[in-house]
Amino acid sequence: MKKVFVTRKILSEGLDLLAQNGFEVEVTTKDEPLTPAELMEKSKSVDALICTMADSINKDFLEKNTHLKIITNYAVGVNNIDLEAAKKFGIAIGNTPDVLTEATAEIAFGLMICAARNFRSAIRNAEEGKWKHFEPQGHLGHALKGKILGIVGYGRIGKRLGEMAHGAFGMDVRGYKRGEDLIAFLKDVDVLSLHIPLTPESRHIIGKKEMAALKKTAIVINTARGDVIDQDALYEALKRNEIFAAGLDVTTPEPLVPTHPLYSLPNVMILPHIGSATYEARRAMSIMCAENIMKAFS
Ligand code: GLV
Ligand code: GLV
Repeated sequence: MKKVFVTRKILSEGLDLLAQNGFEVEVTTKDEPLTPAELMEKSKSVDALICTMADSINKDFLEKNTHLKIITNYAVGVNNIDLEAAKKFGIAIGNTPDVLTEATAEIAFGLMICAARNFRSAIRNAEEGKWKHFEPQGHLGHALKGKILGIVGYGRIGKRLGEMAHGAFGMDVRGYKRGEDLIAFLKDVDVLSLHIPLTPESRHIIGKKEMAALKKTAIVINTARGDVIDQDALYEALKRNEIFAAGLDVTTPEPLVPTHPLYSLPNVMILPHIGSATYEARRAMSIMCAENIMKAFS
């Protein structure tokens, strides 16, 4: 019987499927990620892993676990996995594309509205009892209708966000193409949304220089990985009102400590990495992980 270890408690649909197909499935009993030592220990006696982005599947881990047939990430992004080493050691790698496209595009769309319309500071204001009257000039934001949405990482999720934004607000959607002049691209956009996978090449693709190219009224949305943005440069730009606002579902690191300076800014909305967190997406991700494993053994 092939054994599968699951590093977090995920929705059970895929695990049931594995059990029905003759796999022995063990799920972690912990409510938080395993330590690297725990992961190493648990992996010794199994044939496949379902893991998350919190598990560092690095070269050392792979080298010591060449008996694993497949490791499937419960995520689309695989920046926590050394793909080259996995290939070298003959371990198949799986992920969960497509099934979380809609959920993640929806979160980016939501963050775009929140940032454009000052949800964070407006909600705080109301909750803190500072809402005394209708404010004719309070909480003013920017309309999205007809504005330019620039998407860096114009793949499945980026394109879906583009469709939503075009359909809902008639936004002028522009996908950044590799090789294009990024600075020139950024100068025109009203909303910048990042959907690029994190790789050594895309790390800090939006840095100080890129931030400076954005309009004073620009909004930055990141639902990809924290490190595609130079977070210090983002903080400075927001603090000095060199851009209007940001909506982030990802940060560096995750989580941010509650005392992190980014939280002190009224024009930033931070979500705890919930892009794929719909029942629909997370169920489908569970099933897709199971299918990845079954395929590897068939
Ligand atoms: C989430 O961030 C994912 O990569 O699925
Ligand atoms: C706002 O609520 C309005 O009635 O204009």
